[in-house]
Amino acid sequence: MLCVLALGVAYLALSTALPSRRQDGWPYAPFATSGRDIVNSQGEVVTYAGVNWNGHGETMLPEGLQYQSIESTVTKIKSTGMNVIRLTYAIEMIDDIYDNGPNQSLESTLINALGSQNGSTVLQQVLANNPQFTAGTTRLEVFDAVAAECNTQQIYVHLDNHMSKAEWCCSVGDANAWFGDTDFNIQNWRRGLAYMADHAKSWPAYVSTALRNELRDPGPNSPVQANYGWQDWYPNVVAAADGINAANADPLIFFSGLNFDTDLRNVTRGIDLGGGQIFDIGSFSYSNKIVFELHNYNNNYNGSCADFGSGLYNNGWDAMDNSSTTTAKNIAPVVMTEFGFPQDDTTDQNPYPNCIKEYLTGIRAGWMQWVISGSYYTRQGTQDYEETWGLLNHDWSDWRSQAAIDGFTKPFVEATLS
Ligand SMILES: *[C@@H]1O[C@H](CO)[C@@H](O)[C@H](O)[C@H]1NC(C)=O
Ligand SMILES: *[C@@H]1O[C@H](CO)[C@@H](O)[C@H](O)[C@H]1NC(C)=O
Ligand SMILES: *[C@@H]1O[C@H](CO)[C@@H](O)[C@H](O)[C@H]1NC(C)=O
Ligand SMILES: *[C@@H]1O[C@H](CO)[C@@H](O)[C@H](O)[C@H]1NC(C)=O
Ligand SMILES: *[C@@H]1O[C@H](CO)[C@@H](O)[C@H](O)[C@H]1NC(C)=O
Repeated sequence: MLCVLALGVAYLALSTALPSRRQDGWPYAPFATSGRDIVNSQGEVVTYAGVNWNGHGETMLPEGLQYQSIESTVTKIKSTGMNVIRLTYAIEMIDDIYDNGPNQSLESTLINALGSQNGSTVLQQVLANNPQFTAGTTRLEVFDAVAAECNTQQIYVHLDNHMSKAEWCCSVGDANAWFGDTDFNIQNWRRGLAYMADHAKSWPAYVSTALRNELRDPGPNSPVQANYGWQDWYPNVVAAADGINAANADPLIFFSGLNFDTDLRNVTRGIDLGGGQIFDIGSFSYSNKIVFELHNYNNNYNGSCADFGSGLYNNGWDAMDNSSTTTAKNIAPVVMTEFGFPQDDTTDQNPYPNCIKEYLTGIRAGWMQWVISGSYYTRQGTQDYEETWGLLNHDWSDWRSQAAIDGFTKPFVEATLS
């Protein structure tokens, strides 16, 4: 009763500022799982077909705003028929909020990341393209604006914690690879996940959230290399997921695997992960919120798509197989939250993209391609970095390869959503 009263007051206070959550209209949230499917609040199956939009680089801002408006980029995504973005962020952004760090405004985060001269120039470009912002707009307010535009254009928002320290991901030895790694503070990570899940209650388009991008062997210089493996994975991901669900019970929670998120085999199969720990979806109080995610970058693959599919199945995609011959003990949706390839006029004809398309459409699974970005504010020490795998060109004004969009992306979206 007290709780209801408190919520009622909060709702009254916020109702003028926030769009209300739509259960009776798009996006028909909250989503849930039903066996191998994601379903909306009407019980209709939802399949993701979308793209990554990264915001976890040194500026901790969604990329591309120095070249185009948020509206322009969301419109481009929408024009392919895609229905979701995977919006990435760094835990450092939330740490800065808690620490009242000085670099949260557009002006200071750009100057901090790009230097005073280039930072000032890029700030003016961002403001010219996105006049709703000022130099004092915070990073999180920029994320809010992306989520708001996605709501306007009916694109779901899936939040992804990509890194703890804001920088390009991922490599062995980058100090962000495993729980407790030099730059991967476990408490700050859990705090950041819960903070974002709570904050995103104000985003009507927000429907799902992930735990961590591409967990990996942290390498011999890491203080936690000996911990790498399922035994340490299990307690960490369960505690983090519990924290998300306590902060916001609505979003689906995506669990990622080992080896750069290419392996969930022992999880989907319910094999002892060490010390008797067994992943059992049925044991979670939010068992209808659990989704698996896997990545694939086997770009030089040159065999048959049948063999390619068998490899995926054995690494965790069996969770989508609810037949009597399945090898999975945990049946749940699996989403390929990353795959990608150079956006030129021929690579999309290689076996790799086509085997992914064949496998995922064959089992009616969702996906997000890497990446919308035509260029980055800065990446690995190079400012205005050219992203040759980006769907958009350098200045985000047009497709990098119309042939790849028409020959691969659009037909893939259509086959996924039909
Ligand atoms: C924040 O800005 C200050 C200067 O105002 C700079 O010295 C510091 O390195 C920045 N911190 C981070 C975490 O970017
Ligand atoms: C500043 O931007 C220019 C033009 O993009 C670039 O050539 C230069 O390397 C940048 N400066 C730094 C310090 O990266
Ligand atoms: C998965 O389980 C099998 C069987 O117990 C074990 O041999 C294998 O090492 C496990 N895989 C990982 C990555 O721990
Ligand atoms: C794939 O294999 C065929 C023959 O086995 C070869 O001709 C072709 O060059 C290979 N392609 C790549 C991309 O390796
Ligand atoms: C398997 O999933 C499909 C939906 O994707 C559903 O129609 C079917 O009933 C499920 N089968 C079992 C045995 O649960």
